Amino acid sequence: MTSFTVNGNPVHYKMDPATPLLWALRDASNLTGTKYGCGAGQCGACTVHVDGVARRSCQVTIGAIEGSFVTTIEGLTSDRSHPVQQAWVAAQVPQCGYCQSGMIMAAAALLAKTPSPTDDQIDESITNLCRCGTYPRIRAAIRRAGE
Ligand code: FES
Repeated sequence: MTSFTVNGNPVHYKMDPATPLLWALRDASNLTGTKYGCGAGQCGACTVHVDGVARRSCQVTIGAIEGSFVTTIEGLTSDRSHPVQQAWVAAQVPQCGYCQSGMIMAAAALLAKTPSPTDDQIDESITNLCRCGTYPRIRAAIRRAGE
């Protein structure tokens, strides 16, 4: 059994400790806001926070984070009022939307560490991929959220 906290709630997974966090969240906890894109740590669609740090959940085993605190897009706020979420809406960032929960989690982690990032800091930190190419709006939303 592997135990840690997800969105403030204790969880106990009876899964192989080598199970990627992404699948524990989606299949066992029904937290499907965290998306599967590549499964190889490249795209960032699966980004969540582990102890406040943005991590690609397809690359983190549940056994490696025993006792940690995980936050998914569902737990970022209870009412979608996080400044990043508000900025995302105001800047009309999403196109297809598939990558956006991972983008928002990466942006929230960046802003928690660097409240007013430069474009270079945004580009260095947000390595998630968006196949619709919404990067200019993502940068604008992050700058707006950081104001
Ligand atoms: Fe995890 Fe692409 S699904 S990085």
